[in-house]
Amino acid sequence: MLRVSLLLVGLWVSTGATGDQLAPPTVNISLDQSPEVRWAPLLKVFDVDFLQRAAAEVIDSTVPKWLHVIVKPLVRALEKYLPQPYAGEIRGLASHFGGSLSDIIILNFAYEVSAFCTSIVAQDKNGNVFHGRNLDYPHAVLRNLTIDVLFLKDGQVAYRGTTFAGYVGLWTGQSPNKFTVSGDQRGSDHWWNWWKNVVSAMLLRRTPVSWLVRETLEEARNFQDAVMRLSKIPIITEVYYIVGGVRAGEGAVITRDRSGPADIWPLEPVNREWFRVETNFDHWLPPPAWDHRRDAAIKALNATGQDHITMETLYKVLSLYPVCNGVTIYTTLMSAATPDRYHTLVRPQLSV
Ligand SMILES: *[C@@H]1O[C@H](CO)[C@@H](O)[C@H](O)[C@H]1NC(C)=O
Ligand SMILES: *[C@@H]1O[C@H](CO)[C@@H](O)[C@H](O)[C@H]1NC(C)=O
Ligand SMILES: *[C@@H]1O[C@H](CO)[C@@H](O)[C@H](O)[C@H]1NC(C)=O
Repeated sequence: MLRVSLLLVGLWVSTGATGDQLAPPTVNISLDQSPEVRWAPLLKVFDVDFLQRAAAEVIDSTVPKWLHVIVKPLVRALEKYLPQPYAGEIRGLASHFGGSLSDIIILNFAYEVSAFCTSIVAQDKNGNVFHGRNLDYPHAVLRNLTIDVLFLKDGQVAYRGTTFAGYVGLWTGQSPNKFTVSGDQRGSDHWWNWWKNVVSAMLLRRTPVSWLVRETLEEARNFQDAVMRLSKIPIITEVYYIVGGVRAGEGAVITRDRSGPADIWPLEPVNREWFRVETNFDHWLPPPAWDHRRDAAIKALNATGQDHITMETLYKVLSLYPVCNGVTIYTTLMSAATPDRYHTLVRPQLSV
């Protein structure tokens, strides 16, 4: 279905289409507060009615109605198995949203599947590492739910990331002066597998892929430690983790199986391999004939050249069709060595 929609949007998006590209709101979340109350600042930025409607829209388009009816009580019964701090945060969100706890849990797992993405890590001639990502999702409403979050400890930014209001995991984030991470979907998990993810997370204590990003941002000491954790810790579904560091050569694409790494693909600047592009396919295999994002990005990076790669030129690469397409929700650019330059732009919704 996603495949079809990606093809269809290709027909009506013209290259170089422009529009208003807005920075999303920034929300400060204090990790010094208890998980149940720390997301309350969301309500300063969003109206509760809007959050409720948006959550219902995402659930309706992700989980069939009959399945929703069946899983609601199951999810409610399994809630006690959710680990902290997520259990507390999700419980707090349900009370801030005035919604049902099972729906907020379902919402948090609904995002675990079917995110299409492009991530690029690149290094310039001086050894500066840049990391950019497009997050593609077929729910237009997510444009209005995108937020940059600063996670504070003792008033300092411990780490930051980009996510959707109501979702406690991160697909994009930065640990200042240490590393940056993005996640891209691997494999074609379908909605009918979605409930297995919930059970696997709760009963088998496997981590959702976006929670591992957050934990790594919170705990890893440096790039190498981050790559180690993102490679080894068991997760509920396959994924690609793209990691950028602060020193020359610190960049890699980790191809994950549920239990461990399938492959680790580092930058090799000495062999002139100064960038890595990951979309949603194993890098050692050709992408399917209908998907031209990888080739388009590689071609544009080749044309840019290592002499001219910067945050700005990386943004241009991530703006080219089909790398940026009708379902691209946001683009984030980051470089862990210059953490203040982290920025996200929400892509305009293109009209049909
Ligand atoms: C969020 O935290 C940052 C870093 O401490 C601070 O500069 C900023 O003013 C805070 N924003 C809000 C809205 O509190
Ligand atoms: C999202 O925000 C834009 C601009 O503020 C608005 O025009 C649009 O109607 C909103 N979409 C939804 C689904 O609320
Ligand atoms: C990009 O450049 C590399 C190295 O010169 C070359 O092997 C590759 O074929 C080029 N790819 C594209 C898509 O232009």
